[in-house]
Amino acid sequence: MHDVKVFRQMHRQRFGADPMIFAAPGRVNLIGEHTDYAEGFVMPAAINFATLAAISPRSDGRIAIYSENQGEEKLFEGVQRKGTKQWTDYPMGVVAILAGEGHKIPGFSLTIWSDVPLASGLSSSAALEVATALAVLALIGASYPGPALAKLCQRAENEFVGANCGIMDQFICVNAQPNHALLLDCRALSYQLAPIPDHVALVIANTMVKHSVAGGDYPTRRRESEAACAVVASHRPGVKFLRDCTLQDLENWRAEMEPKSYLRAKHIVSDSLRAEAACRALLKGDMKALGRLMAEAHWSYSKDFDASCAEADAMVEFAQDLPGLIGARLTGGGFGGCTINLVELKDAPAFAEALGARYAQRFGIVPQIHVCHASAGAHRIE
Ligand code: GLA
Repeated sequence: MHDVKVFRQMHRQRFGADPMIFAAPGRVNLIGEHTDYAEGFVMPAAINFATLAAISPRSDGRIAIYSENQGEEKLFEGVQRKGTKQWTDYPMGVVAILAGEGHKIPGFSLTIWSDVPLASGLSSSAALEVATALAVLALIGASYPGPALAKLCQRAENEFVGANCGIMDQFICVNAQPNHALLLDCRALSYQLAPIPDHVALVIANTMVKHSVAGGDYPTRRRESEAACAVVASHRPGVKFLRDCTLQDLENWRAEMEPKSYLRAKHIVSDSLRAEAACRALLKGDMKALGRLMAEAHWSYSKDFDASCAEADAMVEFAQDLPGLIGARLTGGGFGGCTINLVELKDAPAFAEALGARYAQRFGIVPQIHVCHASAGAHRIE
């Protein structure tokens, strides 16, 4: 139902008021995984899946949130201070953070609808947070510059939802440009846009293995990598994040690190370098170099960071000899979710079909495969 008229009507019927409507996209990360919280580089793009949020004021001071996807409406007496481990934590978290920033939050009704696949590593959470933030800010007549808005939404997820994610997802959701990937310096929160050529499609292949940032593996990897950083910092006091470490630093003090920690850190430091190199390759139009970097990134993520699974490794391997492939890797937080395949546009439909067939034959599950293009960041729909 990506039909805004139907969505507007749905809100009107339920809440009896004409809403303002906002859209926030999902994202795919081309390269640079688990580097954001280490203040390194990432290079995501927004995709043509989105969360819509419709908002209208209420006179009773309450907050009503209806999700068409959940088929559920929740009514709150006002801003909540703590999460309840339900889907409403994402929108309510944003509202709570805005209230904490000193904004007076009036009563409102919010309708949510999304076609961003859930639990697939395509940032359905960030899309929900950012769509809510734009809606509530418009209602109260306030606004934030892109990077600050992304930070607010990240705080909602860190402090209210309780998921220890970095800044990548919210940042790309807010700041994406159509037909571009965005190389983000997660320390400076500055970025460079790199055009994705017209002849290249983003083919996203869902392993159907569920992914979650709130689950145990994501924070475990984060802790393991940070332990290696602490070892380097004990020798080089200027070091705060893995962003400050070189591969040579990791070698120098490897003996003092848990073997696992060393490997996790090696992935992060090298993947951040690969993200920068991938941006240079994209700017030069050097698709061969980009494909090579994606392959290296996948195996670093799988072997050193241990964040892949048999299904994702197979999805990457099945893509290798298919016509039109530029590069393939597991994307997002890991432990399931989707692979991103950069594929020549003319070959994309056949590629998707052949990849799906190979995967179905091997695992007995038909994977969802989407041929996407890089899309715009969050915005109001008139
Ligand atoms: C999830 C998190 C991001 C980032 C990625 C891994 O998507 O939300 O902050 O850490 O995993 O690159």
